[in-house]
Parts: sequence; structure tokens; C-alpha cells
Amino acid sequence: MLLLEVQNLSAAYADGVEVLHNISLTVREGEMVTLIGANGAGKTTTLRAIMGLLRGRGTVKFKGENILGRETPDIARLGLSMVPEGRGVFPGLSVYDNLRIATTPWYGRGMSMANDLDRVYALFPILAERRTQLGWSLSGGQQQMLAIGRAIMARPKLMLLDEPSLGLAPNLVEEVFEKLKSINEQGVSILLVEQNAFMALEYSKLAYIIERGTVSAQMTSEALMQDESIKAAYLGG
Ligand SMILES: Nc1ncnc2c1ncn2[C@@H]1O[C@H](COP(=O)(O)OP(=O)(O)OP(=O)(O)O)[C@@H](O)[C@H]1O
Ligand SMILES: [Mg+2]
Repeated sequence: MLLLEVQNLSAAYADGVEVLHNISLTVREGEMVTLIGANGAGKTTTLRAIMGLLRGRGTVKFKGENILGRETPDIARLGLSMVPEGRGVFPGLSVYDNLRIATTPWYGRGMSMANDLDRVYALFPILAERRTQLGWSLSGGQQQMLAIGRAIMARPKLMLLDEPSLGLAPNLVEEVFEKLKSINEQGVSILLVEQNAFMALEYSKLAYIIERGTVSAQMTSEALMQDESIKAAYLGG
């Protein structure tokens, strides 16, 4: 089943300069899909436009429903959640409060937060251990886990992640990807932006290449690994 369908999405920032031009991509239920592209290509802007953080033109459908032009909290409520670049951990809040702040509309209707917290703590035991500590006291890798945990608290069907491995030591990069794999296996689809293309392609089956605000190629990770020109451009040859 098609979960996310983006068709001819164009978008501009407040300065009026259009940075996305007719982006089309899809994510099927259960898939993990990667967006690859050079600095400034429009990867972050694509995620932001899907999330309603930026006004766009075209079509963005989630579970068959058009979400373009809707407010971000409404989009989140439908089952989309984003882990922004730079993690966005609230430094003055404890780990627990960082998780709790991602409240869901189910609470107070016979559903409690306990199950969601248990799920996050089972996935990231370090967050349970550190739950009373402040967000800023965590290491970079732990903050990334916290940001992912917070996104899970909102019970997404689809998670958008912007460069989750940025600035992490190689062993932590692998750990983050292993966690994403488990989350994906638990039924959450994933749309991922990654500079660390090798790692991302190892974990996802399908990739889109974004060049100057447009999708220039869509291929399986396997085919991409074999394409010499793409390898040279995005995978360091
Ligand atoms: N707030 C903003 N206002 C105006 N232009 C912006 C803004 N943010 C980004 N841009 C421009 O939009 C274009 C796409 O940027 P975007 O951040 O989406 O690229 P990216 O692919 O995520 O790059 P990176 O790999 O560096 O994160 C760039 O030309 C950038 O300069
Ligand atoms: Mg970016």
C-alpha cells in the first residue's frame, strides 16, 4: 500500500526563491527509503514541506489523504513524525520530559503514556537509565536516540529523519541504523535523508537522488551501488 505519495511538489522559502521543483516520490507501507543529494540540493526542504513546515505546491498524500496545506500538528496526528537535523533535544528538560512533551491525541481516552514510554525504553535502555538527567548532559549519540524516541512517542506510521548520523562516531552510526531497522521491523515506515550514503543504502532498498531541487533518479540501492557515475558523485567513487 502507498503510504506517502509526493507528486510535483514545488516550494519556496520566504525570500520567494523556489528551491524545490516538481519533486515526486513515494514510500510504501513497511519501506525504508533514502534521499541522497549534495549539500543544498533540497533534502531538508523536501522533508519540511511534507511536514507542513513550509508552504508548497503540488500534491502530498498520506494514506490517500491530501495533506499539503494542512497544519503540522494535524499532519503529525495522522501518523507522520519528523526527527529534525541537529536533533532538537530540549536542553533544559529531562530525558523523561523530552519524551513526554511529544503527547499524543490518544491520551485521556483510555490510553496512557506508559506503553509508549515502555516501548521507547525497551528500544533505548540508556534513556531509561538517564531519564532524570537533563537533555544537554547526554552524548551526541544519546541525544540522537532521544530525538528518535521522542518521534516514536507520537506513534508514527511514517518517520522522516534528517541526517540522523551527522556528527556521530562510526560505531554509533551503526547503532543508530540498527535501531532504525528495529523500528522499521515494528511496522514504522521510514524516509531518511543521509550524507552517509553507504550506510543508508545498506539498510534501505530504495533511494532517490535529489539534484538542485528535483529528483534526478530513483533506483534500488543495489542498482545505485553499481552505477559508476552516481557512486563517484555520492559515494566517494
Ligand atoms: N530558511 C531558508 N531561507 C531561504 N533559503 C533557504 C532556507 N533554508 C534553505 N534554503 C535554501 O534552499 C536550498 C535547499 O536547502 P536544503 O537545506 O533543503 O538542502 P539540503 O539538501 O538539506 O542540504 P544539506 O545537505 O546541506 O543539509 C539551498 O539553496 C538553501 O540555501
Ligand atoms: Mg539538509
